[in-house]
Amino acid sequence: MLFCSLMKFFIDTANLDQIKEAEELGILDGVTTNPSLMAKEGIVGEQNILDHYLKICDIVDGDVSAEVISTEYDKMIVEGERLHEIHPNIVVKVPMIQDGIKAISYFSKKNIDTNCTLVFSPGQAILAAKAGATYLSPFIGRLDDISWDGMDLIKSIAKIYEVQGYNTEILAASVRNPLHIVKCAEAGANVVTCPLSAMTGLLKHPLTDIGLEKFLADHKAANS
Ligand code: G3P
Repeated sequence: MLFCSLMKFFIDTANLDQIKEAEELGILDGVTTNPSLMAKEGIVGEQNILDHYLKICDIVDGDVSAEVISTEYDKMIVEGERLHEIHPNIVVKVPMIQDGIKAISYFSKKNIDTNCTLVFSPGQAILAAKAGATYLSPFIGRLDDISWDGMDLIKSIAKIYEVQGYNTEILAASVRNPLHIVKCAEAGANVVTCPLSAMTGLLKHPLTDIGLEKFLADHKAANS
């Protein structure tokens, strides 16, 4: 039997309006971004990028993943420490590469939270946990895109972390739809990060809409 705390909801976007909308739902625990999502919002230039992370931190009282662009250890450290200084809620997002693992080990010893990204295998998950990553981001949707079962990866990592007692939280990423969220909850993910559409997709059921329409019609008929 898996034991995990309540699954947290992060929004996977750099769009401030969508972050505000998710925050207003009252269920938002944090935000993840990546360089593609920042570029999509037209956020370019180092200072603008740092300012944008601060704006996100002002909206959400929870962990905000900010990804390093460097791929060399020394540069990752400088960049990660700069990101960490912006706000206490910033989590330094580091890619699953050799220098990334070194950087995660360094940040872990400095008590700087990290999110190891671009994870596609249980072996990578073990390495990141051993290095002391705070979060691990396995990409479900991108595995599904190439006919691998993304959810099998979440289940496998959850089993390994449970057996070994690793503290790293499984942050299921590349979550594209409401069913992914439901399956992540079953599989033992600690966090899901997804677009707003996947989050609000959880609301939808035709019988809810039909039922509400009937309740309101019956009320109106009885009270007119
Ligand atoms: O933030 C990383 C991940 O969530 C990206 O998702 O849909 O581009 O595969 P996607």
